[in-house]
Amino acid sequence: MKKKITILPGDGIGKEVTTSGKKVLEQIADCFGHEFIFDYALIGHEAIEATGNPLPDETLTKLKNSDAVLFGAVGHPKYDNDPSAKIRPEQGLLKMRKELGLYANLRPIKLFDELLEASSIKPEILKGADILFFRELTGDVYFGERGRKDNNDTAYDTMIYSRYEVERIAHKAFKAAQTRSKKLTSVDKANVLESSRLWREVVQDVAKQYPDVTVEHMFVDAAAMKLIQNPKSFDVVVTGNLFGDILTDEASQIAGSMGMLASASVGDTVGLYEPIHGSAHDITGKGVANPLASILSAALLLDISFGLKEEADTVIKAVEQTLKEGYRTRDIADASTPHEKILGTEVMGNVVCNQIRMLV
Ligand code: NAI
Ligand code: MG
Repeated sequence: MKKKITILPGDGIGKEVTTSGKKVLEQIADCFGHEFIFDYALIGHEAIEATGNPLPDETLTKLKNSDAVLFGAVGHPKYDNDPSAKIRPEQGLLKMRKELGLYANLRPIKLFDELLEASSIKPEILKGADILFFRELTGDVYFGERGRKDNNDTAYDTMIYSRYEVERIAHKAFKAAQTRSKKLTSVDKANVLESSRLWREVVQDVAKQYPDVTVEHMFVDAAAMKLIQNPKSFDVVVTGNLFGDILTDEASQIAGSMGMLASASVGDTVGLYEPIHGSAHDITGKGVANPLASILSAALLLDISFGLKEEADTVIKAVEQTLKEGYRTRDIADASTPHEKILGTEVMGNVVCNQIRMLV
């Protein structure tokens, strides 16, 4: 198979982890006889420095002309400390999602058995948890009308959803539920918010087309509590942009670390694959970032954009085997991990590539 993949490293540890993600894709191409042609593009702080624009037109054109995109993260401390900055890295990210029509963000949350002890949650609560989140990605308060009034002393953002926006993500979530345990949880705040009442109404309407799927509606505050109390009670979850952002960061603790969670953003055009974590200034440049989220994002890319199921499974098995042999990055190590088994970003990526070679 011949495919064009754009690598969009972005900022901070985004660069460090996508190097490993790309290496794994090269290894897969090598072992399975595919031809992946890689190209690079700029986004975020790096793009602002080079062009003044967090998402240059050249980047957008490259993305639209590729078969899939592997993305790192955007962000820089200088903007975090200056909320008034007009041009910001995350504008590039939001614009990219909107321009590419990436309205569905899939976030599989699954704990590798080898990491049961590394989590701060009790193993018996975690073991067997396997959740697939569908977070709506191009609507909600992130894209609604916003502004300031009263001499800048009042600020507002608007939570807004249309029937069409809810329908298309609901269909994706129901279809996924059909291939899993046929249970879907829709999360909203319909007791208070009008946009959530529409959300619930539309999900109930769409549900009529999937009579084999059981739907449960849950308020977001209750969902946040239940996610930690009994994660096994969830299978497929569909929710809006803001609630999904928060719940999936919370759910990262089920998978042991932010450094373990991959995501796929899909919609009208090219698929984009990225770890759920950000640019992590606190560890940038230290070579300690966990590359497994980027590597698992590469597995999602192979599966969803290219339909290469066997290749994707090989990547996941290679990660499993790496963990089984005791290799850890700092974020997933515990007190019992021998010093020599704690690896940096680059070596961890190389170990996964070795495992792929041994598996094929
Ligand atoms: P973050 O996700 O970058 O980091 C949160 C914590 O998790 C940090 O302590 C970090 O060291 C740790 N962490 C994250 N990824 C890790 C990995 N692969 N291995 C080991 N540890 C890892 O979120 P934070 O600190 O809130 O934001 C940092 C910057 O990233 C900000 O500028 C923010 O705007 C940006 N950001 C970008 C996102 C994106 O591009 N998709 C998403 C979230 C934040
Ligand atoms: Mg987030």
